[in-house]
Amino acid sequence: MTDDRIGRAEACANIALSKYWGKSPRGDNLTAVPSLSLTLDGLRTRTEVQLDRTLSTDEVWLNDKRLEGEEARRVVDLLDRLRQRRGTADRARVTTKNDFPTAAGLASSASGFAALAVAASQALGLDLSSSELSAEARRSSASAARSLFGGFAELPAEADSALEVAPPGHWDVAMLVAIVDAAKKPVGSTQGMLHTQRTSPLYGGWLEAAPKVHLEVREGVLARDFARVATAMEHGARLMHATMMTSEPAVLYLRGTTVELMHEITERRRRGSPEAYTMDAGPNVKLLTERAHVAEAERFLREFPGVLGVLVCRPGPPASRLVLDGELAQARRTEAE
Ligand code: PMV
Repeated sequence: MTDDRIGRAEACANIALSKYWGKSPRGDNLTAVPSLSLTLDGLRTRTEVQLDRTLSTDEVWLNDKRLEGEEARRVVDLLDRLRQRRGTADRARVTTKNDFPTAAGLASSASGFAALAVAASQALGLDLSSSELSAEARRSSASAARSLFGGFAELPAEADSALEVAPPGHWDVAMLVAIVDAAKKPVGSTQGMLHTQRTSPLYGGWLEAAPKVHLEVREGVLARDFARVATAMEHGARLMHATMMTSEPAVLYLRGTTVELMHEITERRRRGSPEAYTMDAGPNVKLLTERAHVAEAERFLREFPGVLGVLVCRPGPPASRLVLDGELAQARRTEAE
């Protein structure tokens, strides 16, 4: 086995400031509404893909545990699409590790599929652009399309791939993740979205409102206007959760501590703290703040009753290939010559 049959990559998770929830009727996992996210340093996935002709099926390992069934199938689907592009049927061993607690109930699919797209295309010798990699990641998990890019990234409605809105250094902000419940979510996002689309009477209103929220967030980010982003981001999160929780039966992710935190963060911002909340398909609260205010925001969250832990994240880099040992040796030889 030679090194050119191995790919290694690293990608960061992202949290949407303006969210998507719902798939387009055009299919192919296209999103119904636009979204804009912050890529987060500190929540990283590292993935290695090794092609091996002796394997009869793909092997997928996540944090030293072999994945089976549906979880493994989503990984195999992405590999199949890339294999088809390359014209090969060789099976692969995929080893992936998250450097953040998977048990924390944080979405690892964004960083996971972004890292997988980069590592697998490297192993297969495919030379794909960031947009092509983003499109491949999107077909597996729409939020993963944004993790190909660093800083602030956008996935327009029904777009094939995401794009960078501003690099990590554009705005000195931080995202603090307050863990409220570490259990695995009862309803996954894909399933939750389909159910919301089918049963919530508010879904039509969400489709109308989400693009406006997105534009507000986008303008606010470009202008580095904290108050503007805060207002739009919180409004968007409440719109999304209101739509989910009015599904029948309800998709209700928020817990008591989540709602207590929403009240308290609103009050603290009224008193002048640059703090704003958002929540995804789970009860954990993500607090956006400015860099100068990180220590104060972290203290507040850690002391808050019901908060089990806090992760502090800064704007992160784009997904990237990790240099292989063989390449490193070759580069050293070239340098020495
Ligand atoms: O694409 P998925 O299945 O990871 O779903 C993401 C859904 C949200 O996190 C709630 C919204 C978003 O835009 O990231």
